[in-house]
Amino acid sequence: MGINILAMGSYLPEQTLTNDDFVKFVDTNDEWIRTRTGICERHMAGWEPAWLMGKNAALKAIERAGIDPKDIGLIIVSSVTSDFLTPSMASILQYELGAENAAAFDLNAACSGFVYTLDTARRFLETDSSMKYALVVSAEALSRFTDFEDRGTCILFGDGAAAAVIESSDKLYSSFLASDGSGARKLFARNCHVAPEVKVESDFDDGFPEKPIHKLYQDGREVYKFAVKALPHAFDSAAEKIGLTSSDMDWFIPHQANIRIIETAAKNLHISTDKFIVTVDHHGNTSSASIPLALCEAIEKGDVKRGQKLALIGFGAGLTYGSVIIEY
Ligand code: COA
Repeated sequence: MGINILAMGSYLPEQTLTNDDFVKFVDTNDEWIRTRTGICERHMAGWEPAWLMGKNAALKAIERAGIDPKDIGLIIVSSVTSDFLTPSMASILQYELGAENAAAFDLNAACSGFVYTLDTARRFLETDSSMKYALVVSAEALSRFTDFEDRGTCILFGDGAAAAVIESSDKLYSSFLASDGSGARKLFARNCHVAPEVKVESDFDDGFPEKPIHKLYQDGREVYKFAVKALPHAFDSAAEKIGLTSSDMDWFIPHQANIRIIETAAKNLHISTDKFIVTVDHHGNTSSASIPLALCEAIEKGDVKRGQKLALIGFGAGLTYGSVIIEY
């Protein structure tokens, strides 16, 4: 059983930061950022709550789908920047949207979050025939924990949200979800306060001596190496299950982290980059919101059309990765 995306909506905060803006606080320049990442500008939430961005995106998706929020049986929000440890952003959205019959929870699979969320929602729809619609939302305010003194990371990230209303259908569908926890240290940020001097008997958490402990830390080169392998592997693993190959796809919508990662993945999949939806230039890396933001924009522009086969491919902290193949 597959899914039908009834409608999507997105929201981007008004404020943007260009590459030149970063020159004011770190030693960088527009040329370096463009050539190494493909990013030109990104949106910044300021103190706007992530849940509110998610709500704005969800409102558009619900309006476009033309459904009654009371018919939504499930809301899943993916995020690494939840405004609260508890309650979940999904519970806040359930109330704010008047989706009074929906179960609600958040899911954190970092930048693979949308792919994980979509596949999780599909499994709920498949096993509960009384569930009419599911709402999946990705809402991210990466600027909350970006280290604006670290030129290697701060230039990469942006904020935004996107949402999709889905229902079950007999359309083509396949998925593959995975994680390689041995790479967890390569991309992390602390949540609760843990004293840096506390040593734990663990390969993963030995106190993380690197500073600053509540900001995002990334080993860029290692994450890059992981991403260029994970992206084609995630696609191939989902495609094989339904006997498809890369040439059967109309569009690839990968996580938008770096144009060089996308170009290398295209080469490894023997596919022209023209088949890849690219928004990293004007969104930056918005974690789990990047795939639905790119898909929503491509639908609005008329590039992605009904009946086309789409491959959504995510990778990120965890290190998580995965893909979902759908017919739009
Ligand atoms: N401006 C100018 N110079 C910078 C810079 C910046 N913003 N950031 C780093 N540099 C410098 C480094 O200090 C280094 O200088 P050195 O050679 O004097 O030591 C040099 O540029 C090369 O650094 P390096 O880290 O090797 O660059 P890179 O080519 O690997 O590019 C990333 C860095 C972060 C763009 C790249 O590693 C990357 O995209 N990694 C994957 C990140 C990702 O996708 N993360 C999200 C996953 S969900």
